Amino acid sequence: MKTITTIAELTEAITTLKSTGKTIGFVPTMGALHQGHLSLIERCKNENDCCVVSIFVNPTQFNDRNDLLNYPRNFDKDAQLINAFCDIIFYPTAEEMYKKEETEIPFDFDFKGLDKVMEGKFRPNHFNGVVQIVSKLFKIVQADKAYFGEKDFQQVAIIKHMVQLLRIPVEVIACPIVREESGLALSSRNELLSVQERKIAANISRVLFESLNFVPQKSIVDLQSFVIEQINSISGLKVEYFEIVDGNNLQPITHWTNANNIVGCITVFCGKVRLIDNIRYK
Ligand code: PAJ
Repeated sequence: MKTITTIAELTEAITTLKSTGKTIGFVPTMGALHQGHLSLIERCKNENDCCVVSIFVNPTQFNDRNDLLNYPRNFDKDAQLINAFCDIIFYPTAEEMYKKEETEIPFDFDFKGLDKVMEGKFRPNHFNGVVQIVSKLFKIVQADKAYFGEKDFQQVAIIKHMVQLLRIPVEVIACPIVREESGLALSSRNELLSVQERKIAANISRVLFESLNFVPQKSIVDLQSFVIEQINSISGLKVEYFEIVDGNNLQPITHWTNANNIVGCITVFCGKVRLIDNIRYK
Protein backbone atom coordinates (compact mmCIF):
# COMPACT_ATOMS: atom_id res chain seq x y z
CA MET A 1 0.00 0.00 0.00
CA LYS A 2 1.35 3.39 -1.02
CA THR A 3 0.43 6.75 0.50
CA ILE A 4 0.26 9.66 -1.95
CA THR A 5 -0.33 13.24 -0.84
CA THR A 6 -0.18 15.27 -4.07
CA ILE A 7 -2.43 15.42 -7.13
CA ALA A 8 0.60 15.36 -9.42
CA GLU A 9 1.95 12.13 -7.93
CA LEU A 10 -1.46 10.46 -7.97
CA THR A 11 -2.04 11.49 -11.61
CA GLU A 12 1.29 9.92 -12.53
CA ALA A 13 0.43 6.66 -10.72
CA ILE A 14 -3.02 6.52 -12.38
CA THR A 15 -1.54 7.16 -15.84
CA THR A 16 0.87 4.25 -15.37
CA LEU A 17 -1.94 1.93 -14.19
CA LYS A 18 -4.19 2.92 -17.11
CA SER A 19 -1.40 2.44 -19.65
CA THR A 20 -1.02 -1.16 -18.49
CA GLY A 21 -4.78 -1.80 -18.77
CA LYS A 22 -5.44 -2.08 -15.02
CA THR A 23 -8.96 -1.40 -13.74
CA ILE A 24 -9.28 1.14 -10.93
CA GLY A 25 -11.79 1.10 -8.08
CA PHE A 26 -12.21 4.11 -5.80
CA VAL A 27 -13.59 4.63 -2.28
CA PRO A 28 -13.72 8.28 -1.14
CA THR A 29 -13.74 8.72 2.66
CA MET A 30 -13.09 11.29 5.37
CA GLY A 31 -11.10 8.84 7.51
CA ALA A 32 -11.85 7.61 11.06
CA LEU A 33 -12.41 4.36 9.24
CA HIS A 34 -14.51 1.50 10.56
CA GLN A 35 -16.00 -1.78 9.31
CA GLY A 36 -18.60 0.14 7.26
CA HIS A 37 -15.83 1.78 5.22
CA LEU A 38 -13.93 -1.49 5.16
CA SER A 39 -16.89 -3.30 3.55
CA LEU A 40 -16.68 -0.83 0.63
CA ILE A 41 -12.89 -1.11 0.41
CA GLU A 42 -12.94 -4.92 0.50
CA ARG A 43 -15.53 -5.02 -2.29
CA CYS A 44 -13.55 -2.47 -4.28
CA LYS A 45 -10.41 -4.61 -4.03
CA ASN A 46 -12.32 -7.75 -5.09
CA GLU A 47 -13.82 -6.10 -8.17
CA ASN A 48 -10.85 -4.10 -9.50
CA ASP A 49 -7.12 -4.52 -10.15
CA CYS A 50 -6.23 -1.47 -8.09
CA CYS A 51 -8.08 -0.07 -5.06
CA VAL A 52 -7.66 3.66 -4.37
CA VAL A 53 -8.97 5.10 -1.09
CA SER A 54 -8.99 8.83 -0.40
CA ILE A 55 -8.88 10.17 3.15
CA PHE A 56 -9.77 13.84 3.22
CA VAL A 57 -11.88 15.70 5.76
CA ASN A 58 -13.50 18.00 3.24
CA PRO A 59 -13.97 21.49 4.76
CA THR A 60 -16.51 22.68 2.16
CA GLN A 61 -19.16 20.12 3.18
CA PHE A 62 -19.22 21.18 6.85
CA ASN A 63 -21.67 23.96 7.62
CA ASP A 64 -20.77 23.83 11.31
CA ARG A 65 -17.18 24.83 12.10
CA ASN A 66 -17.16 22.90 15.38
CA ASP A 67 -18.28 19.76 13.59
CA LEU A 68 -15.29 20.15 11.26
CA LEU A 69 -12.86 20.81 14.12
CA ASN A 70 -14.21 17.87 16.18
CA TYR A 71 -14.27 15.41 13.28
CA PRO A 72 -12.20 12.38 14.43
CA ARG A 73 -8.83 11.99 12.68
CA ASN A 74 -6.36 9.12 13.00
CA PHE A 75 -4.37 8.44 9.86
CA ASP A 76 -2.07 5.72 11.25
CA LYS A 77 -4.95 3.66 12.61
CA ASP A 78 -6.85 4.09 9.31
CA ALA A 79 -3.86 2.98 7.25
CA GLN A 80 -3.41 -0.11 9.39
CA LEU A 81 -7.08 -1.08 9.07
CA ILE A 82 -7.19 -0.96 5.27
CA ASN A 83 -3.64 -2.12 4.51
CA ALA A 84 -4.70 -5.60 3.29
CA PHE A 85 -7.16 -4.28 0.68
CA CYS A 86 -6.02 -0.85 -0.42
CA ASP A 87 -3.26 -0.26 -3.01
CA ILE A 88 -3.12 3.54 -2.91
CA ILE A 89 -4.22 5.90 -0.12
CA PHE A 90 -4.68 9.45 -1.34
CA TYR A 91 -4.19 11.71 1.69
CA PRO A 92 -3.99 15.34 0.53
CA THR A 93 -4.04 18.58 2.51
CA ALA A 94 -6.85 21.13 2.09
CA GLU A 95 -4.37 23.42 0.31
CA GLU A 96 -3.62 20.68 -2.20
CA MET A 97 -7.32 20.17 -2.99
CA TYR A 98 -8.58 23.77 -2.99
CA LYS A 99 -7.54 27.18 -4.14
CA LYS A 100 -8.63 29.69 -1.48
CA GLU A 101 -11.46 31.18 -3.60
CA GLU A 102 -12.96 27.73 -4.21
CA THR A 103 -13.74 27.41 -0.50
CA GLU A 104 -15.42 30.82 -0.32
CA ILE A 105 -18.27 30.55 -2.86
CA PRO A 106 -20.68 27.55 -2.94
CA PHE A 107 -19.97 25.22 -5.87
CA ASP A 108 -22.53 25.81 -8.64
CA PHE A 109 -24.47 22.64 -9.47
CA ASP A 110 -28.01 21.80 -10.60
CA PHE A 111 -29.29 19.28 -8.07
CA LYS A 112 -32.80 19.06 -9.59
CA GLY A 113 -34.21 19.51 -6.07
CA LEU A 114 -32.38 16.50 -4.60
CA ASP A 115 -30.56 18.85 -2.23
CA LYS A 116 -33.64 20.67 -0.95
CA VAL A 117 -34.91 17.87 1.30
CA MET A 118 -33.65 16.10 4.44
CA GLU A 119 -29.88 16.62 4.91
CA GLY A 120 -29.94 19.42 2.36
CA LYS A 121 -32.65 21.27 4.30
CA PHE A 122 -30.84 21.04 7.63
CA ARG A 123 -27.27 21.40 6.35
CA PRO A 124 -27.30 24.24 3.80
CA ASN A 125 -24.58 23.86 1.14
CA HIS A 126 -23.51 20.47 2.53
CA PHE A 127 -24.12 18.71 -0.79
CA ASN A 128 -22.47 21.54 -2.75
CA GLY A 129 -19.33 20.66 -0.83
CA VAL A 130 -19.78 16.92 -1.37
CA VAL A 131 -20.30 17.30 -5.12
CA GLN A 132 -17.41 19.77 -5.34
CA ILE A 133 -14.91 17.36 -3.76
CA VAL A 134 -16.21 14.12 -5.26
CA SER A 135 -16.25 15.55 -8.82
CA LYS A 136 -12.69 16.79 -8.27
CA LEU A 137 -11.58 13.39 -6.94
CA PHE A 138 -13.33 11.55 -9.79
CA LYS A 139 -11.45 13.67 -12.35
CA ILE A 140 -8.10 12.83 -10.74
CA VAL A 141 -8.64 9.12 -9.95
CA GLN A 142 -10.46 8.24 -13.23
CA ALA A 143 -11.88 5.11 -11.61
CA ASP A 144 -13.92 2.50 -13.45
CA LYS A 145 -16.05 1.93 -10.36
CA ALA A 146 -16.66 4.03 -7.23
CA TYR A 147 -18.19 2.72 -4.01
CA PHE A 148 -20.57 4.55 -1.67
CA GLY A 149 -22.53 3.43 1.39
CA GLU A 150 -26.33 3.41 1.48
CA LYS A 151 -26.06 4.74 5.01
CA ASP A 152 -25.79 8.14 3.34
CA PHE A 153 -28.79 7.45 1.14
CA GLN A 154 -29.24 10.99 -0.12
CA GLN A 155 -25.52 11.30 -0.87
CA VAL A 156 -25.56 8.24 -3.17
CA ALA A 157 -28.63 9.59 -5.04
CA ILE A 158 -26.89 12.94 -5.53
CA ILE A 159 -23.60 11.36 -6.65
CA LYS A 160 -25.49 9.24 -9.23
CA HIS A 161 -27.22 12.39 -10.50
CA MET A 162 -23.88 14.23 -10.64
CA VAL A 163 -22.21 11.48 -12.67
CA GLN A 164 -25.05 11.59 -15.21
CA LEU A 165 -25.17 15.36 -15.43
CA LEU A 166 -21.40 15.86 -15.72
CA ARG A 167 -21.04 12.73 -17.89
CA ILE A 168 -18.29 11.26 -15.73
CA PRO A 169 -17.45 7.75 -17.00
CA VAL A 170 -17.59 5.92 -13.67
CA GLU A 171 -19.99 3.26 -12.36
CA VAL A 172 -21.36 4.28 -8.96
CA ILE A 173 -21.99 1.27 -6.73
CA ALA A 174 -24.22 1.56 -3.64
CA CYS A 175 -23.28 -0.81 -0.80
CA PRO A 176 -25.48 -1.92 2.13
CA ILE A 177 -25.34 -0.37 5.62
CA VAL A 178 -23.03 -2.14 8.07
CA ARG A 179 -24.35 -2.14 11.65
CA GLU A 180 -23.03 -2.90 15.13
CA GLU A 181 -24.50 -5.99 16.81
CA SER A 182 -26.86 -3.59 18.62
CA GLY A 183 -28.21 -2.43 15.26
CA LEU A 184 -26.56 1.00 15.45
CA ALA A 185 -25.32 1.98 11.97
CA LEU A 186 -21.53 2.26 12.05
CA SER A 187 -20.38 5.85 11.74
CA SER A 188 -17.18 7.79 12.37
CA ARG A 189 -19.28 10.03 14.61
CA ASN A 190 -20.05 7.06 16.92
CA GLU A 191 -16.54 7.66 18.31
CA LEU A 192 -17.86 10.87 19.81
CA LEU A 193 -20.55 9.01 21.82
CA SER A 194 -20.01 7.99 25.46
CA VAL A 195 -20.54 4.31 26.35
CA GLN A 196 -23.98 5.20 27.74
CA GLU A 197 -24.94 7.25 24.65
CA ARG A 198 -23.91 4.40 22.37
CA LYS A 199 -26.40 2.14 24.13
CA ILE A 200 -29.12 4.77 23.85
CA ALA A 201 -28.34 5.35 20.16
CA ALA A 202 -29.11 1.69 19.39
CA ASN A 203 -32.78 2.57 19.89
CA ILE A 204 -32.79 4.47 16.58
CA SER A 205 -32.42 1.32 14.46
CA ARG A 206 -34.54 -0.70 16.90
CA VAL A 207 -37.51 1.62 16.28
CA LEU A 208 -36.85 1.73 12.52
CA PHE A 209 -36.84 -2.08 12.32
CA GLU A 210 -39.96 -2.27 14.48
CA SER A 211 -41.71 0.16 12.12
CA LEU A 212 -41.35 -2.39 9.28
CA ASN A 213 -44.09 -4.44 10.98
CA PHE A 214 -46.66 -1.68 10.41
CA VAL A 215 -46.31 -1.44 6.62
CA PRO A 216 -48.71 -1.07 4.86
CA GLN A 217 -51.38 -1.12 7.63
CA LYS A 218 -50.40 2.25 9.09
CA SER A 219 -50.59 5.26 6.80
CA ILE A 220 -47.36 7.10 5.96
CA VAL A 221 -48.29 9.97 8.30
CA ASP A 222 -49.08 7.59 11.17
CA LEU A 223 -45.90 5.62 10.66
CA GLN A 224 -43.88 8.85 10.64
CA SER A 225 -45.50 9.95 13.91
CA PHE A 226 -44.93 6.51 15.44
CA VAL A 227 -41.19 6.54 14.69
CA ILE A 228 -40.69 10.14 15.81
CA GLU A 229 -42.67 9.70 19.05
CA GLN A 230 -40.98 6.41 19.96
CA ILE A 231 -37.50 7.82 19.49
CA ASN A 232 -38.21 11.15 21.17
CA SER A 233 -39.64 9.29 24.18
CA ILE A 234 -36.14 7.94 24.92
CA SER A 235 -34.16 10.26 27.14
CA GLY A 236 -31.07 11.53 25.30
CA LEU A 237 -32.50 11.20 21.77
CA LYS A 238 -34.08 13.98 19.69
CA VAL A 239 -35.28 13.47 16.13
CA GLU A 240 -34.32 16.23 13.70
CA TYR A 241 -36.33 14.79 10.81
CA PHE A 242 -37.81 11.50 9.67
CA GLU A 243 -38.98 11.51 6.05
CA ILE A 244 -40.51 8.68 4.08
CA VAL A 245 -39.47 9.28 0.47
CA ASP A 246 -39.47 7.91 -3.04
CA GLY A 247 -35.95 6.42 -3.17
CA ASN A 248 -35.49 7.60 -6.77
CA ASN A 249 -36.22 11.32 -6.46
CA LEU A 250 -36.10 11.72 -2.63
CA GLN A 251 -39.45 13.52 -2.58
CA PRO A 252 -41.79 12.73 0.34
CA ILE A 253 -44.66 10.41 -0.53
CA THR A 254 -48.16 10.29 0.93
CA HIS A 255 -49.28 6.70 0.12
CA TRP A 256 -47.47 3.37 0.05
CA THR A 257 -48.69 2.90 -3.54
CA ASN A 258 -47.02 6.15 -4.70
CA ALA A 259 -43.65 4.53 -5.45
CA ASN A 260 -41.90 1.17 -5.88
CA ASN A 261 -38.79 2.20 -4.04
CA ILE A 262 -39.61 3.63 -0.59
CA VAL A 263 -37.08 4.57 2.08
CA GLY A 264 -37.40 6.16 5.52
CA CYS A 265 -34.51 8.53 6.25
CA ILE A 266 -33.83 9.77 9.76
CA THR A 267 -31.49 12.10 11.61
CA VAL A 268 -31.34 12.01 15.39
CA PHE A 269 -29.28 13.93 17.92
CA CYS A 270 -27.88 11.69 20.61
CA GLY A 271 -26.67 14.31 23.05
CA LYS A 272 -24.59 16.62 20.83
CA VAL A 273 -23.81 13.96 18.22
CA ARG A 274 -25.83 13.99 15.00
CA LEU A 275 -26.54 10.46 13.71
CA ILE A 276 -28.18 9.41 10.45
CA ASP A 277 -29.77 6.15 9.42
CA ASN A 278 -32.38 4.83 7.00
CA ILE A 279 -34.59 1.87 6.32
CA ARG A 280 -36.08 0.41 3.15
CA TYR A 281 -39.86 -0.13 3.32
CA LYS A 282 -40.34 -1.24 -0.29
P1 PAJ B 1 -17.47 9.21 5.11
O1 PAJ B 1 -18.50 9.66 6.07
O2 PAJ B 1 -16.08 8.94 5.60
O3 PAJ B 1 -18.00 7.94 4.38
C1 PAJ B 1 -17.28 7.34 3.32
C2 PAJ B 1 -18.17 6.28 2.70
O4 PAJ B 1 -18.42 5.23 3.66
C3 PAJ B 1 -19.55 6.84 2.30
O5 PAJ B 1 -19.90 6.36 1.03
C4 PAJ B 1 -20.46 6.32 3.41
O6 PAJ B 1 -21.82 6.17 3.01
C5 PAJ B 1 -19.81 4.98 3.70
N1 PAJ B 1 -20.23 4.47 5.03
C6 PAJ B 1 -20.14 5.12 6.22
N2 PAJ B 1 -20.69 4.38 7.21
C7 PAJ B 1 -21.14 3.24 6.63
C8 PAJ B 1 -21.82 2.08 7.11
N3 PAJ B 1 -22.14 1.94 8.39
N4 PAJ B 1 -22.14 1.11 6.22
C9 PAJ B 1 -21.82 1.24 4.89
N5 PAJ B 1 -21.18 2.30 4.38
C10 PAJ B 1 -20.85 3.30 5.22
O7 PAJ B 1 -19.38 10.20 3.05
C11 PAJ B 1 -18.32 10.78 3.17
O8 PAJ B 1 -17.30 10.34 3.96
C12 PAJ B 1 -18.01 12.07 2.42
O9 PAJ B 1 -19.19 12.80 2.22
C13 PAJ B 1 -17.29 11.84 1.06
C14 PAJ B 1 -18.14 11.02 0.08
C15 PAJ B 1 -15.95 11.13 1.28
C16 PAJ B 1 -16.99 13.21 0.40
O10 PAJ B 1 -16.21 14.00 1.22
